[in-house]
Amino acid sequence: MRIFLIIFVFIIAAVVSIFGFRGSLSEKTPIEIFPDMDRQARYKPQGENSFFEDGRNDRPIPVNTVARGNYLNYEEVFSEDFDDTVLGSTTFLQGKNPDGSWVKKLPVEADYTLIELGREKYDIFCSACHGAAGDGNGVTKPYGILATSYHDDRLRNEADGYIYDVITNGKGLMYGLKDRLTPEERWAVVLYVRALQRSQNATAEDVPAGERAELGI
Ligand code: HEC
Repeated sequence: MRIFLIIFVFIIAAVVSIFGFRGSLSEKTPIEIFPDMDRQARYKPQGENSFFEDGRNDRPIPVNTVARGNYLNYEEVFSEDFDDTVLGSTTFLQGKNPDGSWVKKLPVEADYTLIELGREKYDIFCSACHGAAGDGNGVTKPYGILATSYHDDRLRNEADGYIYDVITNGKGLMYGLKDRLTPEERWAVVLYVRALQRSQNATAEDVPAGERAELGI
């Protein structure tokens, strides 16, 4: 009986001390049996750091870093009636006219800088499957990825908005790249795809007359 009483009192004391104060707040410093990660040797974001020359904890992104997953869905961020000629435009963001049809022509100004941007992004994100010339002969071909060649009449005649949509949302076996390319970069790639199509389907007449003589054609 004595032993039973001692055990009983001990159990009551243990239960009350373990569970009895759950949820109650205390100002006192807690006893740390397992400090876990309460105190860590770490650098705070945007803090100072004398180790680096620029004195910052935050390190700049190394050059030539390729974006993975910086997707910002403008429709989720901005409300429907957000009025901005570029950011609020479905033409620019989805490649679709307000009636849902594909945008025929690039909604941004096409210039050489944009083609260059398109070439850079194409080489990074598309050429592995579609090949440098867009003929579907990428390095992944031997492994069974049969990426479409851009050089047929169907794709030549497709609207720019359609190509933009394939880049954005993917098609069939191809995944979408909206998390890696900004809308502007996607339009740049569309422009570059157009340039590739042109490069494989040009005639002597496309060369300006003056330069034709120089080339002997
Ligand atoms: C992982 C490989 C891969 C990558 C990377 C890739 N594609 Fe594709 N792409 C494919 C495959 C496979 C198809 C055929 C899809 C189908 O019809 O099933 C395709 C189809 C297409 C088509 C034709 C769609 C149609 O109507 O037939 C276009 C245009 C295209 N890709 C453009 C691009 C562009 C531009 C990029 C880069 C931004 C890109 N692709 C990156 C594999 C890829």
